[in-house]
Amino acid sequence: MSTLDLQPVALPNPHIQTSLVDVTNRLPIKPPCRVFFKNELEQPSGSFKLRGIGYLVKSSIEKAKREQPNKEIQIFASSGGNAGLAAGYSAYYYKLKCTVVLPVISKKVVQDKLKSYGANIILFGNNINEADKHLRNLMNSMDLDEVVPIYCHPFNNPTIWKGHETLVDEVVDQLGPSQAKNLRGMVCSFGGGGLYNGIYQGMKNNNIRNGEILAIETSQAPTLTQSLKAGDLITLQSVNSLATSLACSHTTKNTLQYFNDSSFIESKLELIDDVDALRGCLAFKKCTNKTVEPACGAALSVVYDKIDAFYKHFGHLKPNDIVVIVVCGGTCTTDQDLAGFQTIINKSEIKL
Ligand SMILES: Cc1ncc(COP(=O)(O)O)c(C=O)c1O
Repeated sequence: MSTLDLQPVALPNPHIQTSLVDVTNRLPIKPPCRVFFKNELEQPSGSFKLRGIGYLVKSSIEKAKREQPNKEIQIFASSGGNAGLAAGYSAYYYKLKCTVVLPVISKKVVQDKLKSYGANIILFGNNINEADKHLRNLMNSMDLDEVVPIYCHPFNNPTIWKGHETLVDEVVDQLGPSQAKNLRGMVCSFGGGGLYNGIYQGMKNNNIRNGEILAIETSQAPTLTQSLKAGDLITLQSVNSLATSLACSHTTKNTLQYFNDSSFIESKLELIDDVDALRGCLAFKKCTNKTVEPACGAALSVVYDKIDAFYKHFGHLKPNDIVVIVVCGGTCTTDQDLAGFQTIINKSEIKL
């Protein structure tokens, strides 16, 4: 064996570089500045989650190989959504065994995709908390002399945020120095806050001064709104949003800290209705023929029917300034679901 073989190996990341597209002249309304879409729907698992969870899996493997080289590494997750898919894809990418415990009501589209990655699926419980409890019991029953279990939380882990930072690194790289200096804002949807935390850290690392992050939350899942109001972390007793991937009962300590510190980056929050998120999905489908989840439609809504929110935050910008909308993706929505969204929108308009 050569000395090189004994060096710890740095693995490649499972996420890919996604496209950054200037859509300024393709939007229904002329914005005050340039607008780009960062197309995270192109990730192999279907969403940005692969950046953070892929990075968590990668660094955990590297650590396990260093510290416990003779044990088998296994991946565990309990998300019935895009985080579970990112964990499943990461396991497939690194050729590791993966177990995902999903609530019994989980969508078939997610189950099928997980199966295509070779993940072992267990349907248990009526919600994510019950599924997660079962997963943890399973992990506790593992023989730790044989196996190194890697647990993938959907958002609450600094290593995940570090992986999400790469989204900003990539945007800066793709814009190049002459345009990156005009980057003034990023728009992202907000569930538990992992994406926001990664963007905040990424903007700071890249020294993007005078920048603003506009986080979009639905009023049916107002986790951050309520935490900011309380001045502390709160737990929502029930969250029932059509933007299912944004339906988190709590956010993170770091999120509140970042949000309240405007010394470097200004963070703002807009509450939209679930129906606006559905409208965002339909408008995006019409413009691009691509299907995304309401969790993504939420961020997109600011350049479609919630353009007032865009003007409120970015109306002062100059024509050369740049705002990037994170098209976070999501594969839990099918084309059939989109047709159902139209019906929900129609009904909500009759109510008005
Ligand atoms: C497609 C999509 N967008 C946005 C989010 C919100 O991300 P976070 O929970 O990191 O705020 C999620 C979370 O699952 C998601 O799946």
